[in-house]
Amino acid sequence: MARPHIEPFVELNEGYKKFRLRGFMGADFKTLSLDPDNGACTLKVKFNGGFKRPPGLSYSDVEIFLLNGEMIVGGKRCIEGHYFFIPAGVTMGAIEVPQGCEALVYFNDSEPHFEASAENHHFALAAGYISVNSYEDRPWASGSIVSPSTATGVMLKLLRYDPLTEAMTFLYCMSPEYLQDNISYHDCAEESYHIWGTSWMMQFGELPTGGYFWRPPFINHGAFRSKQGCIALGRTDSKLHNYFHFNPWSNPSENLHRAAAFLYRQRPQLFKWIAAADHNHPHGPQGQVEALAPAEAPPDFERKDYASDPQVAYLHKQMFSFLEADRSAPKALTPKGAARHMDHTHTHDHDGLGSHTHGPGGHHHHT
Ligand SMILES: [Fe+2]
Repeated sequence: MARPHIEPFVELNEGYKKFRLRGFMGADFKTLSLDPDNGACTLKVKFNGGFKRPPGLSYSDVEIFLLNGEMIVGGKRCIEGHYFFIPAGVTMGAIEVPQGCEALVYFNDSEPHFEASAENHHFALAAGYISVNSYEDRPWASGSIVSPSTATGVMLKLLRYDPLTEAMTFLYCMSPEYLQDNISYHDCAEESYHIWGTSWMMQFGELPTGGYFWRPPFINHGAFRSKQGCIALGRTDSKLHNYFHFNPWSNPSENLHRAAAFLYRQRPQLFKWIAAADHNHPHGPQGQVEALAPAEAPPDFERKDYASDPQVAYLHKQMFSFLEADRSAPKALTPKGAARHMDHTHTHDHDGLGSHTHGPGGHHHHT
């Protein structure tokens, strides 16, 4: 997702535009954020009284959160607080809006799209469909389900969790007189819409009812305050980890490197694996620190000399690798006649060259 940083944005100050798309005629929209590469977007939508559409699907994952009014979906009456997650290719029931309603509508993968269909696409992940009223009596969890945690006074209800990306959608609130005195940033993009109430951040000022942000990774936010409390819908696009500090001048690049420095200190073998410039199993995208040489310690604006700390240095001098672990595994654990390590049956192109190096563990030819 490559949406630009939008913060603060107060949608109540903007006018609606008329939808002219199949499946959305009779609705109006405001764009809160937009990915110019693929059209993925977050919209506030007003479904005007009399809006109707047949059952159908989209080629994007779609999320809908009802802010007010009433929407009948597949014959079931849904009111404010109702949340839907509709995986790409899963058919949503027929929609009827007798008297008008407003909703947040998220297209996570593409521009808004609708295709009438009575059936799911055969590749659709139907089990991922969610329909729940988030305002019903389900327990609020403490914000400390993420550790390290925000200050006490943030409560949330997790509405959706993606086990592959660790993306989350959650209702959250700040208690009145909420106060957090440090600065935060994350590896994930973070998005929020203020359903009601105002919160304050040092960098962006007051975010009132109707306030919205789309915040790419590694952007400082906080200290925080909410005088009278607020309730909001939040989303992340991947794992939420709180990196805290007290330096208001650090920039996203410094924050990124400080996050990498945490990994360098705390999970050195994982750091080496991510930062390996060559062969990097699995063959997915390389990490965000790929520009660094594997042995290089990322700069940390708070702890400039951390890499020379004896314990950190000791861990990084270890030449442990998965291949070595495999070689040194007790023979009894290796079934007789079985391959000594996992079969490499994948095919991949080593840039057409015969010679290449394979990280600190050395190369192992498969015989
Ligand atoms: Fe945050």
